[in-house]
Amino acid sequence: MHQLYNDFKGAPYVGIWLFWRPALVVNSPEIARRVLVKDADVFRNRFLSSGKSDPIGGLNIFTINDPLWSSVRRRLTTVFTAAKLRSLQPITMAKTKNLIKRITDDTKNGGPVPDLRAKNLHRLYTTDVVGEAVFGVVSDCLISSDSIMRRVTRELMAFNFQRGLSWSSIFFFPELVDIFKLSFFTKHTMEFLRKVFRSVIEQRGGYEKPVKEPRDLLDALIKIKQEAAGDNEDISEDLLLAQAAIFLLGGFDSSGSALTLSLYELA
Ligand code: HEM
Repeated sequence: MHQLYNDFKGAPYVGIWLFWRPALVVNSPEIARRVLVKDADVFRNRFLSSGKSDPIGGLNIFTINDPLWSSVRRRLTTVFTAAKLRSLQPITMAKTKNLIKRITDDTKNGGPVPDLRAKNLHRLYTTDVVGEAVFGVVSDCLISSDSIMRRVTRELMAFNFQRGLSWSSIFFFPELVDIFKLSFFTKHTMEFLRKVFRSVIEQRGGYEKPVKEPRDLLDALIKIKQEAAGDNEDISEDLLLAQAAIFLLGGFDSSGSALTLSLYELA
């Protein structure tokens, strides 16, 4: 993608082949905005798919298609009003202070230490922010380099041949996913996240305790289950866990990479 971007700089879009299928790489922010926002109705379903053999990966908002996507998206949108995002500002500010302190402490003794790799630091930072803002789980891995949330995000990004094959197939060759029973997240990662997820839900009084105003994603997920139960619809824990997993992955790695590249450009 990077090479395509450089080779065709200035072109609004580039045609490529995904094996035998023609595809379009959009290079222009204006066209991207139309695809993602203005004309989103026309570009509803994503090409990628996590198949039917993966109960969690196949249920998250990033991989599902309509009509389930619209239903999940409509319900989750209530968490992301401007006012709710503003109310999370103090968490971001507190974690930013920790990031600055960590960089200052690590460099105090006269130069960068091995731990001061920008991407690693930013992943600690975004894990702390997302862990607390989305899950309400206090995470201070910027201070201690470790936390429950960091263990989950480290697992999410563990990379090897099997993960590479799974992700390449999910994104570019979804037909292979069910044939080889590939999965978006590993079984071990999901079992670990499920334990964390259940324990936070229990701390909040379980699925039965009514949620009036969702404070974070987890509250919103509990509320979705409660509202559906009111309509005699059963929403599985897998569906809720799938959203928690994709928010964690989408929230920590994308922002961590964006921060790292921004810092590089500034330097
Ligand atoms: C610089 C940071 C980020 C970048 C570059 C980024 C990029 C993207 C892109 C390209 C998509 C696909 C859009 C589409 O196909 O319609 C996406 C979707 C998504 N992202 Fe991000 N993202 C970022 C931050 C975040 C954060 C902070 C979160 C969560 C806290 C998040 C959660 C998601 C989710 C849940 C989706 C699926 C949305 C849906 O299907 O309705 N992302 N992101």
